[in-house]
Amino acid sequence: MKKVRIIAVANQKGGVGKTTTAVNLSACLAEAGKKVLIIDADPQGNTTSGLGLEKNNVEKTIYEILLDESSIEDTIVGTCVDGLFIIPSNINLSGAEIELIGRDKREYILTEAVGKIKNEYEFIIIDCPPSLNLITINALTASDTVLVPIQCEYFALEGLEQLLHTIGLVKKRLNPSLEMEGVVFTMYDARTNLSMEVVEEVKKDLGDNIYKTIIPRNVRLGEAPSHGLPITMYDSRSKGAESYRLLAEEVIEKEWN
Ligand SMILES: Nc1ncnc2c1ncn2[C@@H]1O[C@H](COP(=O)(O)OP(=O)(O)O)[C@@H](O)[C@H]1O
Ligand SMILES: [Mg+2]
Repeated sequence: MKKVRIIAVANQKGGVGKTTTAVNLSACLAEAGKKVLIIDADPQGNTTSGLGLEKNNVEKTIYEILLDESSIEDTIVGTCVDGLFIIPSNINLSGAEIELIGRDKREYILTEAVGKIKNEYEFIIIDCPPSLNLITINALTASDTVLVPIQCEYFALEGLEQLLHTIGLVKKRLNPSLEMEGVVFTMYDARTNLSMEVVEEVKKDLGDNIYKTIIPRNVRLGEAPSHGLPITMYDSRSKGAESYRLLAEEVIEKEWN
């Protein structure tokens, strides 16, 4: 049986490139022939709209899964990318945490749901919200690894310790097999020394767990979501597309280590 890898894309800071990475890594994995499921776990629904779905018109979302109002099979729909499927999200998800208060085993809801379908995919990518809330805990508990995008900017390392602490807690209490997938640097600007300094600083702390591919700041990556397309379809030859393809190659290779 083929082995699936479930990757949570997490960082409690907003605007660091989680969604951009989740969407475009998934699209590149699919382009490489892998069968991929992307789970939008952010009430902002940017992954959902970024892949061309009308987020306020989708019938079923991750919210219905968490609230036990829909089976996971019924929430999965296709995207504009061959081989890439999605569980959408929208603003409804912002109410889930409150509604789950007092619910037994509420950290494991996504784990149990994903368990039913995971063997149909080679990669499952979960785009986390910008906080360390119950939804993120559900995502980390359901995952094999965590991919942490770090934006090359001055306050990049602020909050990283807290994120690593949370990952450690989840590993200890909820999901002992959770591993660090790695750090991916995003929005790198070769013209600034600051970008280089951030990269060097993180290397000191996280050493081996860093992807060689660095995602540059690229205008086309910023434009693609408003067209509802991943970068591979919006501008296949852009620097952004090339770099996410390289990242996907690295992720695929790591699978066999
Ligand atoms: N490499 C990049 N080059 C240019 N713009 C980017 C890049 N990565 C992300 N962006 C833009 O930066 C903003 C924040 O990125 P996003 O992926 O939504 O972050 P997050 O999901 O962590 O909040 C978005 O407008 C996105 O289009
Ligand atoms: Mg996002």
